[in-house]
Amino acid sequence: MERTLVLLKPDASHRRLVGELIGRFERKGLTVVGLKQVLASKELAEKHYEAHAARPFYPSLISFLTSGPTVALVLEGREAVAAVRGLMGATDGIKSPPGTIRGDYAISIQNNLVHGSDSVDNAKVEIALWFKAEELTAWQTTDTAWVAG
Ligand code: RTP
Ligand code: MG
Repeated sequence: MERTLVLLKPDASHRRLVGELIGRFERKGLTVVGLKQVLASKELAEKHYEAHAARPFYPSLISFLTSGPTVALVLEGREAVAAVRGLMGATDGIKSPPGTIRGDYAISIQNNLVHGSDSVDNAKVEIALWFKAEELTAWQTTDTAWVAG
């Protein structure tokens, strides 16, 4: 089964949407195998978004990600990377269709509530950045055959 990293960015906590957003991923059929609240350091935020280091929005993005708690999750399931990206929608909340997380809850480009790894390779790197191996739980729900069959 594939794993992916999801971050509920600080706006999710400030807007009290953490439970709602985790519920969306659960209802899709993804399994939580890692979950914690982190006050991200500048170093961690910079490393996480290092691919964007040269972009004009990078300094603002780093202050955003360090401005409150982030809820970090590792989700597992069939094509978990693609499943999460689909649930998230487009980067810009306005361009993101209704039914997606950003389409339903965001009008900002930056404050768009969620991060999801964009490839299986990046997911591996990002999971290792945010979680220690012992913080992840290998388990399967009893309905796995029904959900992912
Ligand atoms: P993410 O990495 O957080 O899952 O989001 P994404 O793939 O949809 O978007 P990406 O291009 O990777 O951008 C990373 C995050 O940077 C912020 N952003 N701000 N002001 C801007 O033009 C701008 N563009 C991107 C967003 O928080 C975006 O999610
Ligand atoms: Mg991205």
